[in-house]
Amino acid sequence: MLDLTRQYKAIREEVLAAIERVCASQHFILGAEVEALEQEVAASCGATDAVGCASGTDALWLALAVVGVEPGDAVITTPFSFFASASAIVRAGARPVFVDVDSHTLNIDPAKVEAELQAGKSERLRALLPVHLYGQCADMDALERVVDEFKLTLVEDAAQAIGASWRNRRAGSLGAAAAFSFYPSKNLSAYGDAGIVTTSDSDTAAHMRRLRNHGSPRRYWHEEIGWNCRLDAIQAAVLRVKLPYVEKWNEQRRRHAATYDRLLTQSGLVSSTADSPLRVVATTPHASHVFHQYVVRAKRRDELKQFLADRQIGSEIYYPIPLHLQPALAYLGYREGDLPESERAAREVLALPMFPELTGEEQQWVVESIAEFYS
Ligand SMILES: Cc1ncc(COP(=O)(O)O)c(C=O)c1O
Repeated sequence: MLDLTRQYKAIREEVLAAIERVCASQHFILGAEVEALEQEVAASCGATDAVGCASGTDALWLALAVVGVEPGDAVITTPFSFFASASAIVRAGARPVFVDVDSHTLNIDPAKVEAELQAGKSERLRALLPVHLYGQCADMDALERVVDEFKLTLVEDAAQAIGASWRNRRAGSLGAAAAFSFYPSKNLSAYGDAGIVTTSDSDTAAHMRRLRNHGSPRRYWHEEIGWNCRLDAIQAAVLRVKLPYVEKWNEQRRRHAATYDRLLTQSGLVSSTADSPLRVVATTPHASHVFHQYVVRAKRRDELKQFLADRQIGSEIYYPIPLHLQPALAYLGYREGDLPESERAAREVLALPMFPELTGEEQQWVVESIAEFYS
């Protein structure tokens, strides 16, 4: 599914030198490496500021907290995402309001967001948190119109979308703030947990710098309740080595996605007829997709996954249970059937092996194996 050792082989010397630099400095938390990473990530995303933190989950919480989400507020998000998209809203004291996804892209559906807002059922709606799922930006044209009309703040969950863009504007510069994850499987990945928030508002950035450090602008002076979610210097140094490669790695992912598209079509697994065994999650013309995942929707999905596993081919289900049906969020009162597109996607999606160093032969083997399963 993902072989990180190939990447490590290619950049081993640079990474070890960077780690050695931090060890020699004996400066392990925040400091020069983190500040340099913040500037480099901000520049690469078209934002003026970035604030490093301990994970993508913390990045989401920081972003929501600084745009003014408060206890008692509500935040609209997608139910078809990783749990952190919703738990960060709860952690900020607010209530997630789930709006179903577009059946083609599996990103939040702007028409349904608008319908939810027009219905006016939720009080104190403060923010909209779209997720750029699998590395493809949500429909920002429509979402920006909706947030303007209903006076909401837009925060991007860009955890899977470093380097992605919408009409040549980078993920990370499309809302008031954006959260990225550098979890080891991400397109830009640390050697442990790490995350960052981008913003183009310097007060917002300064506020996040306080919040990630116990609400403390200076030692032992605490202006508000924050948390310890600082980024450590070794992770920042590793990320600084990798950041200049991300563009190339994303391009390789796009090429692999095009190869999968071609092989799946040639083998008849994907076609325009309703009875084809697979469908590919759609890409939108205005989005420059970075294929954190390449995802198909498969008939007999669980059997296919097992068949591939028996051949040592990795595949994953992102996500098997939509967030509105998670036990921890049962108190929100959603029921099965409430958000049918997300529930259908949860039954059908399967992510195929995808990483920059994947070879053409491996892709061929994946597709041949799928074809054999359905033959
Ligand atoms: C969409 C999404 N949001 C948030 C997160 C949370 O990031 P982290 O695992 O770095 O806390 C992830 C990562 O797994 C994610 O995929």
